[in-house]
Amino acid sequence: MKRDAERRIAELRQQIGQADYQYYVLDSPELPDGDYDKLMVELRALEAEFPDLVTPDSPTQRVSGEALGAFGVVTHKVPMLSLDNAFTDEDVIAFDRRIHERLASNAPANLEYVAEPKLDGLAVTVIYRDGKLERAATRGDGVKGEDVTANVRTIHKVPHKLKGNPPSVVEVRGEVFMPIKGFARMNRLLREQGEKVYVNPRNSAAGSLRQLDPRITAKRPLDMFFYATGIVEGGTLPDTQWGLLKALKSWGLPVSPEATLVEGVQGLLGYFQNIGKKRSSLTYQIDGVVYKLNSRPDQERLGFVSRAPRWATAHKYPAEEATTTVSKIEFQVGRTGALTPVARLEPVFVGGVTVTNVTLHNIDEVRRKDVRVGDTVVVRRAGDVIPEVVRVVKHVSDDAPQIELPEKCPVCGSEVVRAEGEAAARCTGGFTCRAQRQESIRHFAARRAMDIEGLGDKIVEQLVEQELVKSPADLYGLTAEQLTELERMGEKSAEKLVEAIAKSKDTTLPRFLFALGIPDVGEATALALAQHFGKLEKLLDASADEIQQVQDVGPVVAAEVASFVGSTEHRKVIARLREAGVHWADVEKPSVEGQPFAGMTFVITGTLDSMSREEAQEALVALGAKVSGSVSKKTRYVVVGADAGSKLKKATELGVETLDEAQFAALLAEARKKGRG
Ligand code: IVH
Repeated sequence: MKRDAERRIAELRQQIGQADYQYYVLDSPELPDGDYDKLMVELRALEAEFPDLVTPDSPTQRVSGEALGAFGVVTHKVPMLSLDNAFTDEDVIAFDRRIHERLASNAPANLEYVAEPKLDGLAVTVIYRDGKLERAATRGDGVKGEDVTANVRTIHKVPHKLKGNPPSVVEVRGEVFMPIKGFARMNRLLREQGEKVYVNPRNSAAGSLRQLDPRITAKRPLDMFFYATGIVEGGTLPDTQWGLLKALKSWGLPVSPEATLVEGVQGLLGYFQNIGKKRSSLTYQIDGVVYKLNSRPDQERLGFVSRAPRWATAHKYPAEEATTTVSKIEFQVGRTGALTPVARLEPVFVGGVTVTNVTLHNIDEVRRKDVRVGDTVVVRRAGDVIPEVVRVVKHVSDDAPQIELPEKCPVCGSEVVRAEGEAAARCTGGFTCRAQRQESIRHFAARRAMDIEGLGDKIVEQLVEQELVKSPADLYGLTAEQLTELERMGEKSAEKLVEAIAKSKDTTLPRFLFALGIPDVGEATALALAQHFGKLEKLLDASADEIQQVQDVGPVVAAEVASFVGSTEHRKVIARLREAGVHWADVEKPSVEGQPFAGMTFVITGTLDSMSREEAQEALVALGAKVSGSVSKKTRYVVVGADAGSKLKKATELGVETLDEAQFAALLAEARKKGRG
């Protein structure tokens, strides 16, 4: 009986596996959906009857699995490298020339390369043992990644079992990404459920893969292409990159259909142009193409420098641009009252996302670009950078009115003032202005501040509108009963939110200071203030002069901080927050003497994959470094994560050394070793 079941289960898994392969990898299904469902039903029934026959590679396990407490750490035996970038034809010519020079007499006149799109997702490695999916991990810092096996198992394109004759152990690597349509659909769903939406397909791929509950990952439209290998045991691989791609394909792994073999620089540049033309019709987002020397023995000979191979490079496309029209220009009121002009646009798809709003920063910027309602404008979006209006192509008409700064706050009607020499005009309403209240509460609850999970924008909006919350301190008095009165808030979610609010009481001083929303006090300044004063009371009693003693705090910020903590209104809110039970441990001033990073200032910009910004800051501070929020000539290193913006630009301008995440991780590891020794 059990024997029969075992045999039938094996049969069913084989048939389902084959059908999945035809459907997901080859994109040419042969088995009708109804028949497929029947096979699944039968398999599920048998597995329910004989639970000990359930194996992790069963197709039934793509969608179930248990939620994890945290991801395990996986050390990559063969490090996962990153790529150098080429931006111009000259960069590509130089790349090819360097290879020629290094290979010297061995090289033919025109080298062979494999060219393929550079997918905008995240690198993942998958180990197959005896053809079975054993483990999957993210790239992490290139040396250590996260164990995402359960989640990768849910990706239909990734076979649980390889076909053909793979080596007994083979590690295959590629990019997990989210197709543009799937991304849009998923965001629509999230928005409907009142959840946070993702900014772009890349973030959503990373966010979806890093879910502790694989059942959530299973619902996300993730896709994957393979392009490389790691460890190999009990077998050999082809000696060309092209042969390798063919081998991957023969094992049933999805490989980009756009990958091709090209010859010489002309071949590379031709490919770049072709894919560039196709780019907007691809179903997924790419930010460039990748060139890899075809000969694997030559790849070995060339090796790599600081985590990037000499035999490969990424050729990036310039930022994408598109034209659209401005339907409205509105002024948004921020947390500190600053009025920001925002252009509402006819929706336009550019750089992988649909853009409907762009900030115009301030009134001077509006004037400089002379944007008016009805104008046709060029919108640009580079990588993950926020979209911008590049220029006006055509004014709607010559006598269209110029945009004026409003005299009264569009939200509360208070007077708008613009201080001498300041770019921003501000609403003077303070906490009486609903917009300012709303924004301060949003900021207070944010992940990097008090981290109140589930307190989304829509909820904050309602809480403020219905006057249930006037200051952050009011949050701690909310009851589940009150919350169920809000739109789309069930009893369960209300209780969860009350719990999350209570949980946020246990915080740290830097987070608390950041959460207060003092103008010009970002995370780095909050940390510096906390470390300098150690106790909140000391900061509350400090004068502007004393505050200016803090690392990186100039007279303007010092005055802002002093005026904020000096205000009776703010002091009341702070006192009420503490009465409500918000607490933290006092911060001890780290002694830096003899520490590996003593005397060095770091700036962190963008998002790091393997750790939060706070963790990075703490790690640096623990090693004696100072962490600053702005780049200057005194900055020793700028650590550059994804979505880096103006700070990276500033670093390049000032010639300050930058570190990518992998280099940063290596530096930390080395310093820790030294610190101990
Ligand atoms: S090869 C040995 N090929 O780009 C070189 N990477 O900037 C290892 N990426 O971490 C990478 N598409 O996440 C390679 N066709 C492709 C790629 C690709 C996207 C990503 C990958 C890598 C990053 C490096």
